[in-house]
Amino acid sequence: MIQSTWKCPSNIALIKYWGKQGKQLPANPSLSFTLSNCFTKTQIGLLPKKSNDLYEFSFFFEGNRKKEFEPKLSSFFEKINYLFPFINEYSLEIKSENSFPHSSGIASSASAFGALALCLCSIEKQLDNTINDNEFFIKTSTAARLGSGSACRSVYAPMAIWGKTKIIENSSDEYAVKFENIHPIFQNYCDTILIADDNAKEVSSSVGHSLLNSNPFSKIRFNEANKNLKFLIQALKKGDLELFNNITESEALMLHALMMTSNPYFILMKPNTLNIINEVWNFRKLSKLNLTITLDAGANVHLLFPDFEKTKVREFINNELSKYCIKNYFINDFVGNGPEKLNNFI
Ligand code: DP6
Repeated sequence: MIQSTWKCPSNIALIKYWGKQGKQLPANPSLSFTLSNCFTKTQIGLLPKKSNDLYEFSFFFEGNRKKEFEPKLSSFFEKINYLFPFINEYSLEIKSENSFPHSSGIASSASAFGALALCLCSIEKQLDNTINDNEFFIKTSTAARLGSGSACRSVYAPMAIWGKTKIIENSSDEYAVKFENIHPIFQNYCDTILIADDNAKEVSSSVGHSLLNSNPFSKIRFNEANKNLKFLIQALKKGDLELFNNITESEALMLHALMMTSNPYFILMKPNTLNIINEVWNFRKLSKLNLTITLDAGANVHLLFPDFEKTKVREFINNELSKYCIKNYFINDFVGNGPEKLNNFI
C-alpha cells in the first residue's frame, strides 16, 4: 500500500500572524520558533476508492474513528485538491495522534495540518517523482497554510518566516521560508508552556483574525509588526537577548490588546496568566536571568529562556509558577530539528 508517515512539531510565533485576507494570506509577516516535544504524528495510506464521493477518507485520532473532524478535513481537501489531484482518486485512511493532551488548551492545528501536508506531499512524490527538496517544502508549506495559517511555519526548523517582506529574499505570502541565520544561543532556546487554562478556546482563531477588519488600530498594528520583525531579526542574528525579550513580549501583549480593542471585544488572559507574568517579571528583575513570555490567542503562557539558564529557570518554574498551572501542568519544550519522516506507523 502507498503510505506516508510524518511527525510534525508545533510552533510558537514571536512576531504574530493576526489578520488575514484572500485565501488565507497574512496581513503581515510573522516569525516563529519550531518546537520539539509538542508534535502530531500522522499516517496517510491510499486504498482503492469504493464510492462516487468526491473525497473518500476515514480519520482516526488516537486509535478511534473521529467523524466529527471529517467535515473540516473535507473542506481542507477541497482547498488543496489543485495541489494534490490524487486525493480524489483514492480512499484515504488517515491516522493521527498528538504528543500533548487534547484538553491542555494547546492549539494543535499547526502540527496537525503540517503533518497532513507532509504526508500528502510525500505520497505525491511516490506517485510522481519529479519534485525536488525545495519544491517539496514550498508545496507542503502552501498546503499546510490552506489548512491553518500558522501551520505553514511548522515545516521548517529552527525558525520560519511567513509573509512577504523586503527584509527576506524569497519570502512569500503563500508559504513560509526557513530562517536559520541566527545566533547559536537561539538554536536550542527553551520554551516551557504553562497551562493557565485547559478549556477550549473562547474565540476561534478565524473569528479573531476577522475582527481585525474592523479594529481601529489594525493599520498601526500591521506597521508595528513589520517594524518589530526588523528589530527581532537583528536581535536573533546578534544574540541580543534584551532586544529579543522586549520585542517578543511587546508582540504578545499587542496581540491581546487587539482582542481587547475589537468589537466584539475579548479578554483572553485568565487570572493565572497575569499571576505568571507578574511572577516572571519580578523574578527577572531580581535574578537578571533572561526569561521572557509570549502568548498565543489564549490564556497559556510560553516562557522562553536560553538553554544555559535552564537549571535555574526550571527551579523557579517548579517552585513559583507551577502553582498557577491547571493541575500543576506545564510542558518543557525547546527549539528543535523540525519535522521527521517516519518508517513505521505510530
Ligand atoms: C495567535 O493559524 O490558528 O497563534 O489561519 O485561522 O487557522 P487560522 O489561524 P491560526 O492563527 C494563529 C494565530 C496566533 C499567532 C501565530 O501563530 O502567528
